[in-house]
This record gives sequence, C-alpha cells and structure tokens, in this order.
Amino acid sequence: MNANNDAYLRPDQHTLLASDVIAGLSQPAKTLPCKWFYDVAGSELFEQITETPEYYLTRVETRLLLDLTSRLADYVPHLTLIIEPGSGSSNKTRMLLSSQPNLLEYMPMDISAGFLYASAVKLEQDFPHLKVTPIVCDFTALTEPLSIDKTHECLIFFPGSTIGNFDPEEARHLLKNIRAMAGRPCWLLIGVDMTQDAARLLAAYNDKAGITDKFNKNILARINRELGANFDLEKFQHRAIFNRDEHRIEMHLVSTKAQTVELAGNQFKFEAGEFIHTENSYKYPKAKFESLLHDAGWLIDHVWEDTDESHFGVFLLRSAG
Ligand code: SAH
Ligand code: AVI
Repeated sequence: MNANNDAYLRPDQHTLLASDVIAGLSQPAKTLPCKWFYDVAGSELFEQITETPEYYLTRVETRLLLDLTSRLADYVPHLTLIIEPGSGSSNKTRMLLSSQPNLLEYMPMDISAGFLYASAVKLEQDFPHLKVTPIVCDFTALTEPLSIDKTHECLIFFPGSTIGNFDPEEARHLLKNIRAMAGRPCWLLIGVDMTQDAARLLAAYNDKAGITDKFNKNILARINRELGANFDLEKFQHRAIFNRDEHRIEMHLVSTKAQTVELAGNQFKFEAGEFIHTENSYKYPKAKFESLLHDAGWLIDHVWEDTDESHFGVFLLRSAG
C-alpha cells in the first residue's frame, strides 16, 4: 500500500473530537457532528445499514453505477486516477476500478482510519496492478490540492449521497473545495438522494432490525470509549424524522429521563425529552441540486436517474474553466 498519510493525517483527532463534542453539547440545542459516527465500529454499522431492505440508497445507486460503468469511458476515455472522499468500504468503487481500461491509481479518503486501511489492503489484493493511496483526513478541512502526478486525468467519485450530510451552504462550499482538491480541471461523479416520499424515507432511517439505532448510539459509545464520558446508552432513544420544509431527515438521540452526563470535568444536563441532533441527511429536489452544482462551478455532462424505487441521481460533471 502506498499510504500517503504524512501530509494529511491529523494526529490531533482525539483533541478535535473532544472540542467538537464539548462545543456541541454546550449549545442550548445540543448537537454532535455526524463525521464522528465513523470509528471502525461506526463504519461497520454503516455497512450493515446498506444491507437492510429499507435503506434503498445503496441498492439503487449500485444499479445506476452498473449501468454507467460500461459507458463512462465514452465520456472520460483517458481516466487514470480516481479520488474518493468518504470512501468507506469502497465497495461501489470496485465497479469503476474493474471497468476503466486506463486506470492507474485510486486515492480513497476517509476519516475512519482503521476501516480505510483495511479496505485499502483488500483492494490491493484484488487489483494488484493498481496503485492504491489511502489518505486519512477530514475532507472538509483540506487546505491545499493533493499531490498528484501531473499526467493524470482525474475523476472525483463522491457517491452515497454523502453530500446530503451537509447543509446547502456547506455543500456549496465543499463542492467548490472538491474542485480545488485535484489542482487541475477534473471530473466529478456524484450520487445524491432526491427522494421526497416521507414513508420511504422514514423506513430507511428507522430500519426494523435496529441497525440505524445502533449506528446513531455508537457516537455516544465512542465518546465514552475515547473521551471517558459516562453516557448511559439505555437512557437515550434513536429518533429519525423527516423535516419536509428543510427537505431533510434528521437523526436525534432523545434523553428518556432527566440526567447529567460527565465528560472531562464538564457536566451536561438533559431534561427528559431533550435531544442531541446527530445528523442531517438532505434530500435535494433536482432543480435545487443542479443550481448548487452550477454555483460551485460544475457543468453537468450526464445524469443517470432512478425514479422507480426512489428518486436518486448520479451526476457526471466537469469543472467549469
Ligand atoms: N462512499 C461510501 C461510504 C459512504 S458513508 C458509499 O457510498 O457507500 C460516508 C463515509 O464518509 C464514511 O466512510 C465516513 O467515515 C466518511 N466521512 C464522513 N465525513 C467525513 C469527513 N468529514 N472527512 C472524511 N471522511 C468522512
Ligand atoms: C453516509 N450518509 C449519506 C448516510 C445517510 O443516509 O445520510 C448515513 C446514514 N445515516 C443513517 N443511515 C445512514
């Protein structure tokens, strides 16, 4: 493995986690940033979510990708490098890695270090001719372009509707930064959930097997493990609601009783029914997403869309200018 961590690895993750958690729990409306869901346990739980019958996003996007891989080379014939922010298991990426004839290098990027490395090792075994360069980082905090061989034709792959975990202003900013990441004109292949059907959405984020419940609560378990807090997971309930006005699923952890939690000398008081807002998952109406892409300097080349099981789109874009 050609780990290119030195420039991007943040050895101060523990400090960043502590300051984010203390800041989030000190607000009148308590929040925790969803990027901290993903330690190894959280990444494994996310993979289990993708296999539940209710979580249509992965199934539907995989179908769209199967269709587009055979045609991607018509649009990007000389593709040699794929960069993936928030790569997780890289399972979907395998379809691209095995179908693009000129591909030389793959750079998976993730905040979940152990899971990223384990995925990268498997990829190296399965794609021995490919250079795999995992980068542990917070992709929202990259301040300079990645160091990339000048000859590469580059595609940034951003599937899974991970863009939906940012509010529209953050998403616009991130899409601009992603353009700068490659340090040259490049392509973007991005998947986004546009579903507005409340029943389908609520089922996807409240699966019957209770995996999303465990995924949501894992953030508390992680804070206990890594920061020595004393959250009692039995006294919090998973809740997912559809906020129709904001076009987003919200995940909450609701305190079932009045309680006080201690963390590094701080005390956080909860009323019964008070909640921590742990995640937003925006479901962009198509026109709104297109205008976001346009504002961030991306031109649409092609869209693959599902409107049968859900409303999901995979957009192929090129950087403007
Ligand atoms: N791309 C995969 C995984 C999506 S899950 C798929 O489509 O199935 C979201 C992934 O993004 C997780 O692996 C998580 O660890 C990573 N992630 C979330 N926020 C991040 C951030 N700010 N920086 C780096 N990785 C992040
Ligand atoms: C990674 N992200 C796009 C997922 C989502 O659907 O917002 C995370 C997730 N949260 C609950 N289930 C899955």
